[in-house]
Amino acid sequence: PRHFRALQTKSLTRPPLGFAFDIDGVLLAGSQPIPGASRALQILNGDNQLNLKIPYILLTNGGGSTEEERARKLSSRLGVEISSSQIVQAHTVLKDFTQEYADKAVLCLGGIGNQMSKVAESYGFRRAYTTTDVLAWNSSVWPFMHVSGSDLASAKQIDFSRTPISAVFVFHDPRNWGVDVQIMCDIIQSGGVIGSPYVDSATRRDRKIQIIFCNPDLLWKSDFARPRLGQGAFRESFQAVFKAAELDRVNVSSRPAWKTDSSNDVGFDLFLLLNQSLIQWTRRWMIGDNPESDIAGANAAGWSSVLVPGVYDPTVGVRPTHEPTHIAQNVEEAVLWAIEREI
Ligand code: G3P
Ligand code: MG
Repeated sequence: PRHFRALQTKSLTRPPLGFAFDIDGVLLAGSQPIPGASRALQILNGDNQLNLKIPYILLTNGGGSTEEERARKLSSRLGVEISSSQIVQAHTVLKDFTQEYADKAVLCLGGIGNQMSKVAESYGFRRAYTTTDVLAWNSSVWPFMHVSGSDLASAKQIDFSRTPISAVFVFHDPRNWGVDVQIMCDIIQSGGVIGSPYVDSATRRDRKIQIIFCNPDLLWKSDFARPRLGQGAFRESFQAVFKAAELDRVNVSSRPAWKTDSSNDVGFDLFLLLNQSLIQWTRRWMIGDNPESDIAGANAAGWSSVLVPGVYDPTVGVRPTHEPTHIAQNVEEAVLWAIEREI
């Protein structure tokens, strides 16, 4: 009660307070809620002695479905009502590209089947394709895998020999890295038209094919005992294969949605956008489990932060450049600690 009574008076006189929560490793382990996660959100949703509501968003390098779908799933799993406007995923930032690419053919990587093209279409991309569509067009693009009957049935009937690809958006973590690396190399080497003669570097530059990775996470915490390889590992493998094939390195604008290490100032565009427009708070707290993204992003954007175990392993520690404001055992403890600081 002391926390909230003081906060209530303070909240009337001081700028508003808000929280951003990472999802994997903080709120969920795989599909299961982490102990304390629901309670932490309920506290902020006003389930406290003073019914004081403190705004928050969920800010994740994850993705794979529309924000609406993700909000529905999270509300059901956590038993807390979360709206789609509170969800910022790795690929949410691709909404910025809809105007430029609405009617251009784009390849959407991640997930399975046509999941990512459906997300892209919900953003307004009208010619969004997947690697399943490419294999349905010509299975010899990747001789080691054949598209299942159900995926074939849902695949778009496109002649990619007559469909120049203008951009590759890695929405979410690819499932079959071999297929995706192969088709990305094809698109770059052939200047956008899969299977056509390779083009030289000057032509590639002229074609300006955008390659955007939405999530820089090398590792992420699921429900396995040790962190798992994430989209950042896929990017490393793509770039290694591309380089090893003696191709010049494409101008891979690894514009992750929002969380990245401090070396990539582009990555903070969305953090700054969140600072300036989406979030009218001036006292902001990020709660995450990955020092390389959650804490590095918060530190560089001037937010306070609390680190919880997940990707972060207390026996290993944290790099000096990625020190959080505080380290807590779990998200509920993190929320209460931060509130204590704000009063
Ligand atoms: O896509 C899986 C992973 O990178 C998401 O992680 O911790 O940002 O929710 P997180
Ligand atoms: Mg995480």
